[in-house]
Amino acid sequence: MATTLIKGGTVVSATGQTSADVLIDGEKIVGVLAPGSVLLGTDLAASADTVIDATGKYVIPGGIDAHTHFELPFGGTEASDSFESGTRAAAWGGTTTVVDFAVQVAGTPVPDGLAAWHEKAAGNCAIDYGFHQIIGGVDEASLAFMPKLLDEGISSYKMFMAYPGVFYSDDGQILRAMQKAAELGLLTMMHAENGPAIDVLAAQLAEAGKTTPYYHGIARAWQMEEEATHRAIMLSHLTNAPLYVVHVSAKQAVEQLAWARDRGQNVFGETCPQYLYLSLEEQLGATSKEWGDFEGAKWVCSTPLRSREEGHQDHMWQALRTNDLQMVSTDHCPFCMKGQKELGKGDFRKIPNGIGSVEHRMDLMYQGVVTGQLTLERWVELTSTTPARMFGMYGQKGVIAPGADGDVVVYDPQGHTTISAETHHMNMDHSAWEGYEIDGHVDTVLSRGKVIVDGGQYLGSKGDGRFLKRGLSQYLV
Ligand code: URP
Ligand code: ZN
Ligand code: ZN
Ligand code: ZN
Repeated sequence: MATTLIKGGTVVSATGQTSADVLIDGEKIVGVLAPGSVLLGTDLAASADTVIDATGKYVIPGGIDAHTHFELPFGGTEASDSFESGTRAAAWGGTTTVVDFAVQVAGTPVPDGLAAWHEKAAGNCAIDYGFHQIIGGVDEASLAFMPKLLDEGISSYKMFMAYPGVFYSDDGQILRAMQKAAELGLLTMMHAENGPAIDVLAAQLAEAGKTTPYYHGIARAWQMEEEATHRAIMLSHLTNAPLYVVHVSAKQAVEQLAWARDRGQNVFGETCPQYLYLSLEEQLGATSKEWGDFEGAKWVCSTPLRSREEGHQDHMWQALRTNDLQMVSTDHCPFCMKGQKELGKGDFRKIPNGIGSVEHRMDLMYQGVVTGQLTLERWVELTSTTPARMFGMYGQKGVIAPGADGDVVVYDPQGHTTISAETHHMNMDHSAWEGYEIDGHVDTVLSRGKVIVDGGQYLGSKGDGRFLKRGLSQYLV
């Protein structure tokens, strides 16, 4: 087995930082050692097959993006990143594990949806990947399959209070699934927006001729996120099912989560880079020479970008500091403007929902360290360690320690990155982050001990990534 020594860097974990050398043997980390260690008379730097000089750089556990949608059918088209292109882009950005959503739609068997997702991913991924299960049709058959999800290495599933007629579950269905989840220890993930009310608002706006992307954000009012978050919390309380609310964007929804947590409930929340940086006014309301007032379609996603005047973005940063929100994932769901987002020209309801950020999450969140909003340790915790614990893969992933997979990123705080569609690796004809200047740079990425990105070169291959069977959440007592 080949050995690799990552030498001279600052190893950062969720709990601290230390000058140390990291020794990897084959696929596993075998030692985190005092700098320049001589082990049983052997000078490690001289004997390792590969030595990576990390002097002046951070050595962090590979990022874990627990919310991606590769090849997701949506709005009459399909998310534009395949498992191949999407996981490669993730690797470029220092993410070494993704958890994607296998999809079941109402009236079809859950195992068929799951099998279809395995078919898409197997042999195509650059990095390790797991699945959550979307249950789009809660009925006798899908409830009966829930215990089998655990055998399949899937310990979390998602339901939708939004998208009537597509993925939507009503409160009775949610109650039944949560009862089952509580019994099994499965983690319930919730898209918390009041879909039926939003659809009425959206139809009223469209009828009044308000059809530009901006009105996507008006229709999906924060009251509808706060209300659904509260309803999910109460159903979770009643059933004793732990709850994880995805893509939280409204400050009032965060307040609901904080309230439930203060009452002692096992309720958690994730936000995404777009809700920390971007806004209703600046992005959804944008115009350009090329696209006119349809420019905002680039940022149509659900939950929507919120008003900066109302202060949602600042509140998200604060909630990350105070642990009212526990994680940052991307909800990577890319669509090109040409031929995809374009489907909604003249009617914002037809714009496929989603933003692509899987490549930039580590960099974008590192800016929180640069601006003094997050500690280095919190950066690692939000992007790697908590995702690993929340979704039952900690120990193998999310930490640099003996026995863990050799998923390691060497991050250069002196480096610089300018984000652009011209240089990104995602399969998108635009970037939601065009022109963003990043202090910091992903220099080297190892996945299970193999160097897959180094010195601006991609060195991995299609199929390097394996399906990751996850256990029960390790975030719960
Ligand atoms: O706009 C989004 N978020 N698209 C992906 C589907 C979802 O609801 O997560
Ligand atoms: Zn969602
Ligand atoms: Zn999503
Ligand atoms: Zn660099």
